[in-house]
Amino acid sequence: MADSPNTNTPDTNDNTLDIDSAAVTARQVVAVRYGDPVDVLKIVEVELPAPDQGQVVVAVEAIGVNPIDAKIVRGVMGTDESALPRPIGNELSGTVRAVGPGTNDFAVGDPVIGYPVPGAYADHVVVGTDRLHRRPESLDVQRAAGLLLAGVTAADAVATAQIAGGDVVVVHGGAGAVGVVAVQLAVKAGATVIATAAQTNHAYLRGLGAIPVTYGDGLIERIREGAPGAVTAAVDTVGTDEAIDVSLELVVDRSRIVSIAAFGRAAEGIVVIAGPSAASNRHRAEAIEPLIASAADGSLVTEVAATYPMDRAGHALADLSGRHPRGKFVLLP
Ligand SMILES: NC(=O)c1ccc[n+]([C@@H]2O[C@H](COP(=O)([O-])OP(=O)(O)OC[C@H]3O[C@@H](n4cnc5c(N)ncnc54)[C@H](OP(=O)(O)O)[C@@H]3O)[C@@H](O)[C@H]2O)c1
Repeated sequence: MADSPNTNTPDTNDNTLDIDSAAVTARQVVAVRYGDPVDVLKIVEVELPAPDQGQVVVAVEAIGVNPIDAKIVRGVMGTDESALPRPIGNELSGTVRAVGPGTNDFAVGDPVIGYPVPGAYADHVVVGTDRLHRRPESLDVQRAAGLLLAGVTAADAVATAQIAGGDVVVVHGGAGAVGVVAVQLAVKAGATVIATAAQTNHAYLRGLGAIPVTYGDGLIERIREGAPGAVTAAVDTVGTDEAIDVSLELVVDRSRIVSIAAFGRAAEGIVVIAGPSAASNRHRAEAIEPLIASAADGSLVTEVAATYPMDRAGHALADLSGRHPRGKFVLLP
């Protein structure tokens, strides 16, 4: 959401002139069928409609890559043929290039983050200003592009688990894109945080204030050794049976075991965040501006692991689906 009207915005007539000069042909990544991202993603050119009232054209400078993008392309979320060719992506960062008539909350030249923006894998998008957020100058455009989808998910999970001071919480997948934000939000709330991760990420997690433990055989013993007391909550960003089984054994109150990925385990009394419930929507909306502010002032640490040119989006998704370095993957149009 826009936070305040921009007083430098020209009046409606001037905006109309902006629209006329804004006609652009956008390059957009689409899945032409479902399957291996390297094979099925293509770049197409599309004529953008002129922005309507409440809309702007954004020149995209960076695009966040997320596991859900790969799942959609691979057909894991369904294989609706009528949706093909299917635009991909949800989040981006860039600069407002043109504004629709009567659109006064953003002006040409404003640096912005777009989330959620379906079809974000593109070099230009037409988007409603209710999906735009101001990007502070101190927040790098690439970090900004990959901040919000993972960030609001982490905030939602931490809020749903009701993490507070005095809690001992396990974050499964603490070095992942969602995990690093969940770890930091839980530490900030005053909890003791045990984060599961590969050994290579342990020093990093210690730096964020967590107690790192390696996942795999013997996980529950390692958590018990590392925990200063009874584990009171768990946030799972991985979805493995190991993560859920260990959480069920450690946490008495199942409503405080929250998973964003274990969709097959929802019947066991844990909370699986799958769709847009009213509570999740509220948690996520409330998290956006604090996430942007804390990323901009450095109090929230996030990283960009790798950038890919947009025409290698399929390779980015393939790499994200396997073992990959810590941090976000970002596409450059
Ligand atoms: N429900 C929702 O609203 C929602 C929203 C966003 C994401 N998600 C889902 O949440 C999951 C994580 O997303 P993400 O963006 O954080 O992905 P990510 O950046 O790829 O992080 C995943 C992390 O999982 C860790 N990991 C891998 N195998 C593991 C195992 N066996 N046990 C414990 N940890 C393991 C890895 O850490 P190491 O490198 O330390 O091994 C990796 O960093 C994805 O499935 C995604 O689709 C759901």
